[in-house]
Amino acid sequence: MSQLKTKHLLGIKNLDREDIELIFRTASNFKEVINRPIKKVPSLRDVTIANIFFENSTRTKLSFELAEKRLSADVLNFSASGSSVKKGETLLDTINNILAMKVDMVVMRHASPGAPHFLSKHIDANIINAGDGTHEHPTQALLDTFSILERTGKVEGKKVVIVGDILHSRVALSNIFALQILGAKVMVCGPATLLPKHIKELGVEVETDIRKALEWCDVANILRIQLERQQMSYFPSLREYAQYFGVNKQLLDSLDKEITIMHPGPINRGIEITSDVADSEHSIILDQVENGVAIRMAVLYLLAGINPD
Ligand code: CP
Repeated sequence: MSQLKTKHLLGIKNLDREDIELIFRTASNFKEVINRPIKKVPSLRDVTIANIFFENSTRTKLSFELAEKRLSADVLNFSASGSSVKKGETLLDTINNILAMKVDMVVMRHASPGAPHFLSKHIDANIINAGDGTHEHPTQALLDTFSILERTGKVEGKKVVIVGDILHSRVALSNIFALQILGAKVMVCGPATLLPKHIKELGVEVETDIRKALEWCDVANILRIQLERQQMSYFPSLREYAQYFGVNKQLLDSLDKEITIMHPGPINRGIEITSDVADSEHSIILDQVENGVAIRMAVLYLLAGINPD
């Protein structure tokens, strides 16, 4: 099989194991390409891609743009701030105006869960979800699971704990889906107030004691506390959060094992993770970023192979 079974990448939920393995094989080839002296291939010459970001981003936005340029696509970058969205233009009007300029693919980040799904019902271009509110962030989960595979040799059977603000995290949901499809065991750990009420129904283990979670896992993916999404106080203070749920060297050194440390970024150093952990040899945080380019090249390349109906 050399094609994805989907025209859009809206979420990991729409992929199966075959799709993910195809993305990984393609990403491995592109990773080799981007480490050559000449990093560019002509695969998407004549394809125009619009990166439409209604929310802030550093890694995802730059990584998609670089992936597109490495594939020789023509690239349009749109940020809601400074655009006519500020004059009241709707999402659909904005996108249709961009598509009228003959755009083939849309990469979109939006604060509303389901925004890319809504668009996919109204436009013909391929859509890639670059994060929709608290819902999904599929390319992040793909690059995370690819990075686990690269570091540990396999994902099947690995025990992965996702730590922190699960309630507001699109990274958590997409990672849970991707890890389960690939046969990993998943645990979530955080304060009870930041764990969704029905999270167990997704088939994950639930833990509120960080030491027990770290004793259980092979890999810890540590999430940022998303203060910008929190409408109320979910814990007494950041200091207390760091004390009870922060991952620090002292805690890791007290365990009788080595754990692979991940974080999707941006990091709040000293809150969910200390610098001596984030920058340690066990951390693959910057490998995740490097792999993000190869994974996004693979997704763009594979989706571009499907003609919109
Ligand atoms: N991991 C991630 O989505 O980072 P950005 O918000 O910087 O894109």
